Amino acid sequence: MKKEHPSAKEAFTPSANRADYVKNMFGSIANRYDFMNSIMTGGRHHFWRRLAAEELVTPGDIVVDVGCGTGDLSFACLRQSASHAIGIDFARPMLPIALDKAKKFSAKDKFTATVGDATSLPIANDSVDVWCSAFVIRNIPDMDAAFHEAWRILKPGGKIAILEITKMQPSLFSPIIRMHFNHIVPFIGKIISRHNTAYEYLPVSVDQFETKEELCVRLDRAGFNINVVRSLMFRTITLLVATKPKSP
Ligand SMILES: C[S@@+](CC[C@H](N)C(=O)[O-])C[C@H]1O[C@@H](n2cnc3c(N)ncnc32)[C@H](O)[C@@H]1O
Repeated sequence: MKKEHPSAKEAFTPSANRADYVKNMFGSIANRYDFMNSIMTGGRHHFWRRLAAEELVTPGDIVVDVGCGTGDLSFACLRQSASHAIGIDFARPMLPIALDKAKKFSAKDKFTATVGDATSLPIANDSVDVWCSAFVIRNIPDMDAAFHEAWRILKPGGKIAILEITKMQPSLFSPIIRMHFNHIVPFIGKIISRHNTAYEYLPVSVDQFETKEELCVRLDRAGFNINVVRSLMFRTITLLVATKPKSP
C-alpha cells in the first residue's frame, strides 16, 4: 500500500513538530534528492553552491556544512581548497550518499559525515573557520538557535554563509515563478520522489519564510557583520555571507 505523509501545511500548524516532519521527509527522499534538484533547477544548483564556496572559503579552512544532505556544498568548499569539511545532518539516510560521493571525488580523507542537529552542534567552541548551509535554514523552526550555534563554533573572524530560497518579492516574473514552485515542482516532485507531500512542502516553506532583508536583520542581531548579499535565479535565491567579528 502506498505510504501517506502528513500534508505540508499541517507541518506548520502550532501543534506540529516541524523538525520531525522535515527529518522524516528528507530521510525518505534521500535517494532521489539529487536527481530532483537537477530537474527543478535545470542543473543550476551546482553553480550556486560553487559561487557560495568562492565567496567563502580561504585555502586551508575547516568548514562545517550544516544540513549537508548529500554533501554538495561540502564538496564545493573542498574544491576551493578547504582543508576539511564536516557535514552534519539530522536525516541519517542522506549521509551514506554523501560519503559515497566523497569516495567518488577522492575526498574521502577530507570529509566527515555526522548525524546532528543545527541547533545543537557536536563541535567545540571557536574551532572552525566556516559555518555554511544550503537550502536548510528555512527548514529550522528556531533559526536564532542555529545562528547562536554558528557563532559558538566559529573562530573569531570566521565566516557564515547561507544559500537559501527567500520569500518571493513581487516582480515581472512572479506569476511564472509561482507557477513553477506551486504547481510544476510539486507535480514532478511527487512522481520522482515517490513522497506525496515533500515537494508541496517546498512552496509552503518559502511562503512562510523571510525576505533577504529580514534574514540580514536576524544575522546582524546575532552579532555577525554582513559582507555579501547576492540575489540569484530571478531573485528567488539569496546568498548571504557574514563574519563573526575578531573582537566583540
Ligand atoms: C533541502 S536539503 C539541503 C541539502 C544540502 N545542503 C544541499 O545543498 O543539497 C535540507 C537538509 O537539511 C537537513 N536539515 C533540516 N533541518 C535540520 C536541522 N535542524 N539539523 C540538521 N539538519 C537539518 C535536512 O535533513 C536535509 O538533508
